Amino acid sequence: MEIIDAKYIISSPGYKNCPAPDRAEFAFIGRSNVGKSSLINMLTGKKQLAKISSTPGKTQLINHFEITSRRSHASSPGEGSVSKPLGKLSGQKRANWYLVDLPGYGYAKVSHKARNNWDNMLESYIRKRQNLVCLFVLVDSRHQPQPADLDFINQLGSWGTPFVLVFTKADKNKPGGTERNVAEFQEALSGSWEEPPPHFVSSALKNTGRKEVLDYIERLINSFTKL
Ligand code: GTP
Ligand code: MG
Repeated sequence: MEIIDAKYIISSPGYKNCPAPDRAEFAFIGRSNVGKSSLINMLTGKKQLAKISSTPGKTQLINHFEITSRRSHASSPGEGSVSKPLGKLSGQKRANWYLVDLPGYGYAKVSHKARNNWDNMLESYIRKRQNLVCLFVLVDSRHQPQPADLDFINQLGSWGTPFVLVFTKADKNKPGGTERNVAEFQEALSGSWEEPPPHFVSSALKNTGRKEVLDYIERLINSFTKL
């Protein structure tokens, strides 16, 4: 998938204020500072799109970005490509969808009340947003399994929310470090999950995982639009 355009639309304090749910939506969530905004910028190829900060808690609202993309590969036989001139019409199908940057969970430096409001806001968005196709749960690949991540993922299981994992900041690990931490994370989930959730490894610095995540999104958009 190729990104043609990515633009900021709106920041909403709750799911009721979000744009009309008229297209596929993919949201990024994870502990504060895990690299959600950086990953969105890396995927869209726009360094300034989502605000990045070394101070945790930067993203505090539900931020919508409108993405226009195009299939980068030729369409496969059976998709109507037979009589079209190669490189012109085939493989040029455009899609419009939303990417969402969510506030981080588990940020300690806020009051109990603010934390509660935040949790409620995120829970409502995750459970009620009709067009949310998949939640990308970001986990810092440098750390051993953290209770905040495991608890959140188990919560998603009880809500029946479709999600995948993205292990971020892989460039900061020594060789083998990312794989070891991913395996430990999967092991920690094995008590409550029969199969480990699908996962990606990313580095916003080195563009790692960009193609894999975008191709995955493309496949989900195709099945969403066929509904
Ligand atoms: P909040 O909005 O505060 O919850 O943070 P966030 O999850 O959006 O994280 P953000 O993208 O703002 O990144 C936090 C810090 O990590 C920044 O200093 C980024 O430059 C850094 N960072 C993010 N991704 C990567 C990565 O893949 N590699 C490296 N080396 N640094 C990263
Ligand atoms: Mg952010």
